[in-house]
Amino acid sequence: MDRCFLIENMETEIFELNDLNTEGYSSAVAYCGELIRMGKTVVFPTETVYGLGANAFDEMAVKKIFEAKGRPGDNPLIVHVAEKAEVAPLVKSIPEKAKLLMAEFWPGPLTLIMPVSEKIPKAVTAGLDTVAVRMPSGKTAHELIAQAGVPIAAPSANISGRPSPTEGAHVLEDMTGKVSAILIADEIEVGLESTVVDMTSEPPTLLRPGGITADALRHVIGDITLSPNITENIIPEKVMSPGMKYRHYAPKGKVIIVRGDAETKAEKIKNEISRLSEIEKHYFGILATDETKNTYLNLDAQVLSLGSQKEPEHLGRHLFDRLRQFDMLGCEYIFAEDISREDETLALINRLYKSAGYVFI
Ligand code: TXA
Ligand code: MG
Repeated sequence: MDRCFLIENMETEIFELNDLNTEGYSSAVAYCGELIRMGKTVVFPTETVYGLGANAFDEMAVKKIFEAKGRPGDNPLIVHVAEKAEVAPLVKSIPEKAKLLMAEFWPGPLTLIMPVSEKIPKAVTAGLDTVAVRMPSGKTAHELIAQAGVPIAAPSANISGRPSPTEGAHVLEDMTGKVSAILIADEIEVGLESTVVDMTSEPPTLLRPGGITADALRHVIGDITLSPNITENIIPEKVMSPGMKYRHYAPKGKVIIVRGDAETKAEKIKNEISRLSEIEKHYFGILATDETKNTYLNLDAQVLSLGSQKEPEHLGRHLFDRLRQFDMLGCEYIFAEDISREDETLALINRLYKSAGYVFI
């Protein structure tokens, strides 16, 4: 039977794991580990976002990931391991600085790019001579990889281009019927994908900011280069991380970043709403913070908050959920307040600007 046909019409087994200490939990995870070993796809929670996993050594299984997501084949995947000892067979060598970072931050939201070994199929690396590896910290992710007995290749479990899934409902919406099984558990902590660092350059290059900040990395390995397109709309000549060139994290509505002090922002949004409403009725959203959300009460728009500015390190946790909520509310234009740039907000700013396609007012 045709493989695409199979995937589009697949029966998806769904496991909602409310209590991580029961026999039911262990047997569901063990069963899903078995599915991975058999070449099937399983969605699972990590501490960052949900991942869509398959056996990293099985090229046919890995191809199912690309089909389920509608992901371009030239965008490589991250290989997830349960133990540090599992890295050696995946790579040609482990750079010294990578060893230092693993010792400090693994398990955790940090992905390291290293020279790839022959064991990894080309579908995983998109034919690059490097491989991205990470050891996630969530209990279910760890158990699933351990039960599978093989490393798990997994991108975020969203349909390509959509915001990454950080709630069970997001996964069910995007992946039901496209994968063999879905494990749902309340284990997402960061809410944005892992920090990605290329360890093959000297100094190493931060390709994607995430839960482990640039300052935290510098603290352990000294100098790092920040890829220029983290906050700017630049595609380097040689695309270092193929994922960089694709439209990302975007809801259906158009996201517009609004800059200026509190008063200026409110004024700009008000003017845009009246300008856009002149010809026909539109639905508007505003992405604010707990401190600013009340400024917009008099506008005809749905206001959602990212949380409190007093906890900048947590502002990214609900970004993807809020973007999806604006879609559910039917918002066609989403005005997002710009976020003040600090070490802890770099990952949030990166995802927000990409979701807006770098459109600012
Ligand atoms: O937190 C995360 O990293 C999540 C969870 C599931 O672990 N995964 C995730 O995967 O975000 P994905 O595929 O959505 O993002 C992986 C990023 C992409 O931008 C990809 O281009 C880049 O890592 N990447 C993968 N392998 C690479 C390589 N060999 N060289 C450069 N970039 C690479
Ligand atoms: Mg992704």
